Amino acid sequence: MTKASHIPVLVEEVVVGLAIEPGDTIVDGTFGAGGYTRALLGAGAGRVIGFDRDPDAIANGPSLVPDPRLMLVEERFGRMHEALAARGLLPVDGVALDIGVSSMQLDRAERGFSFMNDGPLDMRMSQSGETAAEFLNAADEAEIARVIKLYGEEPRARSVARAIVAARPLTRTAQLASVVRRALGYRAGQKSDPATRTFQAIRIHLNAELDELEAGLRAAERSLRPGGRLAVVTFHSLEDRIVKRFLKSRSGAMPAGSRHRPMAVSGPAPSFEHVAKPVSPSESEQARNPRARSARLRTAVRTDAPAWDQEKNG
Ligand SMILES: C[S@@+](CC[C@H](N)C(=O)[O-])C[C@H]1O[C@@H](n2cnc3c(N)ncnc32)[C@H](O)[C@@H]1O
Repeated sequence: MTKASHIPVLVEEVVVGLAIEPGDTIVDGTFGAGGYTRALLGAGAGRVIGFDRDPDAIANGPSLVPDPRLMLVEERFGRMHEALAARGLLPVDGVALDIGVSSMQLDRAERGFSFMNDGPLDMRMSQSGETAAEFLNAADEAEIARVIKLYGEEPRARSVARAIVAARPLTRTAQLASVVRRALGYRAGQKSDPATRTFQAIRIHLNAELDELEAGLRAAERSLRPGGRLAVVTFHSLEDRIVKRFLKSRSGAMPAGSRHRPMAVSGPAPSFEHVAKPVSPSESEQARNPRARSARLRTAVRTDAPAWDQEKNG
């Protein structure tokens, strides 16, 4: 059996939030190490469709969760609607998303996500497309600074970008980590590693994670039956803001118009209701699993109104 080093975060709360009924069909949009899927099947789901964009996660899936009720699909969750339609599985009763990388991805140095374990500068979840090395060795300084500022919220993004450009070509994660630490000043024993923000930023950029999260929310809106439930776990404020704004606007709690385009008197009918207050991990979960500290769960229930604008209007 494949070893799963990933500890699922807020898993009990996700199962409660999805209010599983026996026989339900649930999408686990981020299968990872199968932690959520196992819990969903344990709670009585009749079928779980596990999506992951990482071919390794899909390949390991059957040994991590050997259960005939599990169907695995190698696909981005932003495309779940098309993938479910092609298999005749629409609509579904619940959708769970657990955003970010898994410990399996982080722990395997050869995937290039980690500044703790040296590996090639890769960071691609789907193992296709541009690598971190290709991006960092080709982009100009302003573009690198923009990415690090926007997705890493690194206040000294300019200095980091300058140091990266001066150190090119970069090929290894340890090399990038030491360039960033030198640029920002790192004292051994410092609480958080200054390379954290830069690694997060490059990963989010390469995998277009924020665009994909928006696409995933819209895909879930189109895939859920009336009364079906959505549960989304995020790990930092950039992601949480996207989920919060989406559910606010879709539940009618936020005007859909903008400064430039005043709101129509009657916008689309709310497609979600019962938007719950965000849930954070208990102190005991945070003590057990430090990775859970920043996690936040948001849940909502699909109404019977049509999905809003099919492709845009996030
Ligand atoms: C935090 S882990 C999920 C862990 C899982 N809930 C568990 O308990 O084992 C996130 C997983 O989602 C996958 N992932 C991230 N973005 C994705 C996307 N847009 N589409 C499909 N899978 C994605 C990653 O490859 C990773 O395996």
